[in-house]
Amino acid sequence: MTKQNIDWANLGFGYIKTRSRFVANYKNGAWDKGGLTEDSNITISECAGVLQYAQTCFEGLKAYTTEDGHIVTFRPDLNAERIHDSAVKLRIPVLPEGMFVDAVKQVVEANEDFVPPYGSGATLYIRPYMFGSSPVIGVKPAEEYQFRMFVTPVGPYFKGGVRPLNIRLSDLDRAAPKGTGNIKAGLNYAMSLYNIVEAHDLGFDENLYLDAATKTKIEETGGANIIFITKDGTVVTPKSDTILPSITRRSLLYVAEKYLGLKTEEREIHKDELSDFAECGLCGTAAVISPVGIINDHGKEIVFPDSNKEMGPITKKLYDTLTGIQMGRIEAPEGWIMRIK
Ligand code: PLP
Ligand code: COI
Repeated sequence: MTKQNIDWANLGFGYIKTRSRFVANYKNGAWDKGGLTEDSNITISECAGVLQYAQTCFEGLKAYTTEDGHIVTFRPDLNAERIHDSAVKLRIPVLPEGMFVDAVKQVVEANEDFVPPYGSGATLYIRPYMFGSSPVIGVKPAEEYQFRMFVTPVGPYFKGGVRPLNIRLSDLDRAAPKGTGNIKAGLNYAMSLYNIVEAHDLGFDENLYLDAATKTKIEETGGANIIFITKDGTVVTPKSDTILPSITRRSLLYVAEKYLGLKTEEREIHKDELSDFAECGLCGTAAVISPVGIINDHGKEIVFPDSNKEMGPITKKLYDTLTGIQMGRIEAPEGWIMRIK
């Protein structure tokens, strides 16, 4: 199929309407089998659960064109697992076994011409989501739901491409202890909007959240997990029950140990330790690995000596290995790559 006429190299992280999306409906206690539609609009009740009480969760994953011209996705089974966990916590009925991954295949295949070419720097972002579609006015779960999945070609998440970010320690909290920080609920992002606009207005790229209970431990940013590299090359990342279990972060820890022979630590990170690290980066599907140059702690700049001019050397090795696996240049661990075409 001839590729769409899109300026792939200059894409930002935005929405471009593509041809087909997947939709399945839950009604009378069961999911239908769902299918593709070309209609990108949704008509629901003015009183739908999603509109009144934000009963919705989502996922994010990507499709890549490999060096040898195949189209693949990266660990979609883990996104299926995570949307299952999100749905359970939001009292959204879980999807039948296999529906999520099957929908990924169908949607990507149907929009093959929107998958950016190998080497273009762009990828196809896949956005699955579920929401309460029937009316609720008392606070309770909806009775009817929709599961949808669309795709859109994207470039880098942060404006200006891969460049060291300047992020600030946030005073506002993202997630309460025993709250919803570890699921991908829309509400976690709605409540971050005030703060991200303020951060951008002040010239920062992102907010770095501390644990809400003690305000001393590093958690994650609004849209990505965080990793640090010590001066002796150990990869350190926060362990917390209130952050999103990032598939990218879990994959990077594996890559660090098994491909690069690096030591890794998943542990609590105190904010006073920040100045000990040599490199810092944000990781996620959208962020891939974006270097962090500075964390601003209320006017005091913590500068990472090895990642404030360009991506740090260890971070770069992690980035090259991960993207090498995703683009088929490096052999992937068993089960990580799902070939679509
Ligand atoms: N943390 C938050 C809050 C996110 O929104 C994301 C994006 O999905 C991540 C972390 C990274 O997760 P993943 O690597 O699974 O995309
Ligand atoms: C992703 O990385 O897939 C996300 O959902 C993060 C979002 C902030 C775009």
